[in-house]
Amino acid sequence: MSKPQLLIDTDPGVDDALAIMMAHAHADIAALSVAAGNVGLGHTVRNARTLRDLLGATFPVYAGCPSPLVRAPDEDAAFVHGMDGLGDVGFPEPKAAADAEAAALALLRLTRERPGELTLVALAPLTNLALALRLDPTLPQRVKRLVVMGGAVTGRGNTGKVPAEFNIGFDPEAAHVVFEAFPAFDLVDWEATLRHGFDDAEFDAWLAAGDRRAEFFGQVFRTARDYNAKHDRHGVVAADALAMAVAIDPAIVTRSETRAVAVELDGRLTRGATVVDWANRLGRPAQARIVLEVDQARFAAMVRKALGAA
Ligand code: BDR
Ligand code: CA
Repeated sequence: MSKPQLLIDTDPGVDDALAIMMAHAHADIAALSVAAGNVGLGHTVRNARTLRDLLGATFPVYAGCPSPLVRAPDEDAAFVHGMDGLGDVGFPEPKAAADAEAAALALLRLTRERPGELTLVALAPLTNLALALRLDPTLPQRVKRLVVMGGAVTGRGNTGKVPAEFNIGFDPEAAHVVFEAFPAFDLVDWEATLRHGFDDAEFDAWLAAGDRRAEFFGQVFRTARDYNAKHDRHGVVAADALAMAVAIDPAIVTRSETRAVAVELDGRLTRGATVVDWANRLGRPAQARIVLEVDQARFAAMVRKALGAA
């Protein structure tokens, strides 16, 4: 079977880093388009270049939009990912620069050059995808699949706005544009992420057994681990890694529900929430395959290989 061809929109980000390592180990990376999110765009672009060097890869890196489409964000996620987004390790300046083309334009061009071939994996606020869609609404017709990490499908989010998940809450208007435009996509939400954590000791054993990628991940993960320990959170949860597993191998999904999902744009307490029409009351097209369970052993095997600990 030929390897999946991935176009990855990302805001690295510790769990983005693991997801990109998985993509490199199990698929072909056509390009990284980079969004602002976990930290500012200057950091996320540099982190994407750092990851390219770590992997000895040559895929292009395209910088995207430095802010959400409409409103300034309420929060970033530096308190989890580190001020620089990769655990404040202090990596050297990456070798090659980012490419000059804007991320949204690169997404349009690459999907025109390779219609029907590329799986779009969205691991960040959806600003770049929304811009691309506004420029060219036919984008969904050229994408093989879209997999989105985002949302909290029963309202248990991870941001200051209780029901909102970070990627959707950072740029709700962008998520609205994407959710309205794509007739079908896979949605890997924060609540599924929490159900698919790894045991701390088991994960540490993979880090110890792995190669330079495991060493790198152990370094960048330290800040997030300290944060989790202080907040009494146990186990290793990696939202973007779970979404990447679904992008690499859709057959890993063992339970899902396909429903209409919309984004709340106005709520006083709910802006950025993903509203799921669980009972099909609205008669809207059910566009999101909501991933509820994956085969955890296969997910673990994918992560181990990405760390060089297979
Ligand atoms: C998502 O938000 C970011 O902090 C992570 O990188 C992930 O994409 C989880 O809510
Ligand atoms: Ca991310």
